[in-house]
Amino acid sequence: MAARSGAVLTCFASKLMFLALSCVALAGYAISTPTNDIRPLVIWHGLGDTYASRGIIQFESEVKKLHPGIFVHSVYINRDVEEDKRATFYGNVNAQIDLVAEQLASIPELGRGFDAIGFSQGGQFLRGYVERYNDPPVYNLITFGSQHMGISDIPPCRSFDFLCEVARRAAKAGAYTEWAQEHLVQAQYFRDPNQLGLYMTLNSFLADINNELMLPAARNVTYANNLASLENLILVLFAQDKTVIPKESAWFGSEAPLEELDASSTQPDDQHPLGKPQLTAARTIVPMKLQPLYVEDYIGLRSLDERGTITLQTCPGEHMHLTGCWEDLVRKWVGQSF
Ligand SMILES: *[C@@H]1O[C@H](CO)[C@@H](O)[C@H](O)[C@H]1NC(C)=O
Repeated sequence: MAARSGAVLTCFASKLMFLALSCVALAGYAISTPTNDIRPLVIWHGLGDTYASRGIIQFESEVKKLHPGIFVHSVYINRDVEEDKRATFYGNVNAQIDLVAEQLASIPELGRGFDAIGFSQGGQFLRGYVERYNDPPVYNLITFGSQHMGISDIPPCRSFDFLCEVARRAAKAGAYTEWAQEHLVQAQYFRDPNQLGLYMTLNSFLADINNELMLPAARNVTYANNLASLENLILVLFAQDKTVIPKESAWFGSEAPLEELDASSTQPDDQHPLGKPQLTAARTIVPMKLQPLYVEDYIGLRSLDERGTITLQTCPGEHMHLTGCWEDLVRKWVGQSF
């Protein structure tokens, strides 16, 4: 912006028509620099982070080093960073996606579409944007450690993170209450494999964008068409992820319901007269290709996969440890020309 008004001011100062014209051209050049032929990038940050944190700003500048001239937009719910951080814990995810859709549609540089990177929960929120809006459209969607099949436990907080602690305690106390489904972000992608009926009827966000609904007729076909229109979907799982439960959610995996486990594994024995605690039971993961939402293609995932446009990627570290892992992905999937 500063460069643009600078150019315009010089024009008026020159007073010579031909110079003025060349200045207009220069100003035009300055305006159109971001809307070159490189696909822009939209980033949606994760829980406890903000759109302008040091990490996000550093990531943006690394992306710009790899792809000179690329336009990058970091999604915000609130321009005030403290409020933006708060909105990662508290708020209505559906309303946040509506707001972000409006924000993205209002940015001229994004008009022709863009690639998108979602960090952690930002990944499933961007998927929600694709399914519900996709206008302007997303080409490549890359999600890092996202919770596409939800979480079956609310992850622990860092020490002294009270914003997180209070939200966590409230979500654990009643994830499917109407209040939690309106106000607690994590509750809105809480998916208890042992209470899928409750999840399907009471979850206000994830069950909807996953089309995991009791009545097949209630599934929204637009969601499937929009997701299937992606050029590529790149799902990144962190191999040592101890934050997302289960970590395979990043690849559309989920924990199998307990009743599907061998009943003898939870039967009482000498050491566990009341039955073994459920947590020690083997944690079976239902992989993407066995999920009903994949098999019956509720959301276009199977269509994408059969076209060969889903890439499952692993990063070696803990949740969101991007070091040594993001660069090849950003080189390959971001910064292409229209
Ligand atoms: C399906 O989703 C689209 C996009 O969000 C929306 O416009 C439409 O009203 C939805 N259809 C139904 C039947 O809910």
